[in-house]
Amino acid sequence: MESRSILITGSSTGIGYFCAKELQKMGYRVFATARKSKDVKRLQDEGLESLKLDLDDSKSIKDAVDEVLKRCDGKLYALFNNGAYGQPGAVEDLSRATLLAQFETNIFGTQELTNLLIPTFRACKEGRIIQNSSVLGFVSMRHRGAYNASKYALEGLSDTMRLELIDKNIFVSLIEPGPIRSDFRKNALEKFLQNIDRENSPNKKEYEDKLESLKSEKDVPFTLGPEAVLKVLVHALEAKRPKARYRVTFPTKLFWFLKRVLSTRIIDFIARKVS
Ligand SMILES: NC(=O)c1ccc[n+]([C@@H]2O[C@H](COP(=O)([O-])OP(=O)(O)OC[C@H]3O[C@@H](n4cnc5c(N)ncnc54)[C@H](OP(=O)(O)O)[C@@H]3O)[C@@H](O)[C@H]2O)c1
Repeated sequence: MESRSILITGSSTGIGYFCAKELQKMGYRVFATARKSKDVKRLQDEGLESLKLDLDDSKSIKDAVDEVLKRCDGKLYALFNNGAYGQPGAVEDLSRATLLAQFETNIFGTQELTNLLIPTFRACKEGRIIQNSSVLGFVSMRHRGAYNASKYALEGLSDTMRLELIDKNIFVSLIEPGPIRSDFRKNALEKFLQNIDRENSPNKKEYEDKLESLKSEKDVPFTLGPEAVLKVLVHALEAKRPKARYRVTFPTKLFWFLKRVLSTRIIDFIARKVS
């Protein structure tokens, strides 16, 4: 049987990297994309079929799609929208450019890529679009406004696409991880230092604690390895009826339950305590 093919964004590190390698071992044809040429080269040296794809650049997205479709004869089975970053900072300290950049990567580029691939899934009469969202796609935390907003948007677009595509045998699933071991915090720290004017912020004092936690190498409580995401990704790829949502890690499951039974006032109280 011809192996099923999947395009993964953000395969340079973390969840994307782990899943690309494991799915390849399982027999999938994996197009492990990354935004930096040096990472593409490293992944190729490791035996992955890697291509460049920068979600902030329409041409890069289009070039990657054209090349992937050429290589797999137009028969792509799945897309794992995984590439993203978290921009920390209080909402009042987010410039328009910083907020726009967060959406360029996590939403606009991701949706542009998805829309370029939906015609292929339609033509193949099957497809899986799997979105790496977050617990922060349905629970808000302090200093996570940009990332919260981008993941809420991803959830909104995904819920709508699910309604629009289900009768075409194209399934849209959301994965909602809590803390997963990866380079996420390291990359968030970089964005925090780059884009937030800490010195002139009314949140200066709180940012000192924030910096400590972003710099810490220690796992936050309930952190799992990327294999926890792989497990549900495989279900979303292989189940006859994949789920709309896969909640990964204890904090995600707990907050999902709490949001259904508690008032917003109480959820806010808890969220303030933990963020
Ligand atoms: N780790 C967690 O605790 C956690 C929890 C919930 C959800 N998630 C989600 O899981 C996904 C993967 O994150 P991760 O935890 O594996 O973190 P990560 O190690 O930082 O990986 C993020 C990946 O996204 C890529 N990326 C960033 N900007 C990009 C762009 N413009 N174009 C293409 N790729 C880009 C990064 O590439 P570079 O190396 O070039 O920056 C990297 O490969 C994200 O969607 C994240 O929101 C993570």
